Amino acid sequence: MNVLVIGSGGREHALAWAISKSPLLTKLYCAPGNGGMEKVGDCVPLKVMDFDGIIAFCKEKGIDFVVVGPEDPLAGGLVDRLEEEDIKSFGPSKAAAQLEASKGYTKDLCAEFGIPTAAFARFEALEPARAYLKEQGLPIVIKADGLAAGKGVIIPETMGEAEEALEEIFGGKFGAAGAQVVIEEFMTGEEASFFVLADGEVALPLATAQDHKRVGDGDTGPNTGGMGAYSPAAIMTSELCEQVMREIVQPTLDAMAKRGTPFKGVLFAGLMLTSEGPKLVEYNARFGDPETQVLMLRLKSDILPALIAAHDGTLGGVSLDWHEDVALTVVMAAKGYPGAYEKGTEIKNLEAAGADETVEIFHAGTATDGARILSAGGRVLNVTARGKSVAEAQARAYAAADKIDWPNGFCRRDIGWRAIERETAST
Ligand code: AMP
Ligand code: GLY
Repeated sequence: MNVLVIGSGGREHALAWAISKSPLLTKLYCAPGNGGMEKVGDCVPLKVMDFDGIIAFCKEKGIDFVVVGPEDPLAGGLVDRLEEEDIKSFGPSKAAAQLEASKGYTKDLCAEFGIPTAAFARFEALEPARAYLKEQGLPIVIKADGLAAGKGVIIPETMGEAEEALEEIFGGKFGAAGAQVVIEEFMTGEEASFFVLADGEVALPLATAQDHKRVGDGDTGPNTGGMGAYSPAAIMTSELCEQVMREIVQPTLDAMAKRGTPFKGVLFAGLMLTSEGPKLVEYNARFGDPETQVLMLRLKSDILPALIAAHDGTLGGVSLDWHEDVALTVVMAAKGYPGAYEKGTEIKNLEAAGADETVEIFHAGTATDGARILSAGGRVLNVTARGKSVAEAQARAYAAADKIDWPNGFCRRDIGWRAIERETAST
């Protein structure tokens, strides 16, 4: 079959790489893809929000299945448009993607169906939000309702900062994404991510992961899209996973089906493991980036039939095999990220760096220029490795990263540190 992957990040490279190994595949296309995805499929210069262009391309090339990576086309209704044209695709409808696209929508759903999450209130105007903030006091969490590329969550340190955040959001800092605000209780605990495939009714657990959002070592500095991740998250015991399925994931799928907007695709639950048990921080309606890079390196089974089963409503018959090993990914970013950075700098020695069979280097912001690989974004490479422990996977990933010749790049040196401290403590 002919498959089209939509997106251009490390997540999409990892998905395309996994799909490229499927015996079901005839030809793989990526739109728009990146310098690494060119090695596994044909990259076509189509923008992810150019729905007409994508549909015309699918018809021209006889695409049998479209895998949508990023949240924007999902929230914009690409899956609905493809469905109208009888083109099968992987991902939620626009209505179901509300689980990510509106934090208030998800909070209301949790309240209605008894799904554990932080206490909250929703606001459409500054004054009532300010009054509620004063009543609640610190610590508190303020969130723009809509998609804000991971930047719409503020955990203020002072009341002044909190008021400023409200003023900025209602003042238009996040555009339409900030037309509404959720103010919620600050939860304490360790965070973990839980991924399931869903076919509208049935959920198939994939794996757990933990990521590092801050740019600096020791989890310091500004937030980013993610500087590294590892899977599994040892803290997510099988009992906890079962509890999350029972109390959070399955009730969500049941609620979405009951509302007439069944959820199909990947449900990515961000969890806080509190003293009262796991609580939902947020949902994403898509694969995580960089979590997908570690998930795909651990997956032994063919991913493509599972993605198709999520579309077809036949996930009940699917099981997936995973490497017991840990996988860990280190993000290499352009110096300056998440602030201003240079593009177009040359990256060398990638083949030698990725030669170890336990290592895979996924590309994010790269482009090719003849035989040269150039940086083309903030997060540029995901150096990913498997090992028997987090420590071993980390050592292999950094050994590979150190072989990459890219003077304009940098990476954190401590991805997985909490898990490694735990491993060291238990031996
Ligand atoms: P989100 O973009 O919703 O994943 O939020 C970004 C980060 O903010 C999360 O990964 C948490 O670290 C933090 N966060 C969000 N909501 C809460 C909360 N209610 N309590 C504590 N931390 C939170
Ligand atoms: N790594 C977090 C995300 O994909 O949203």
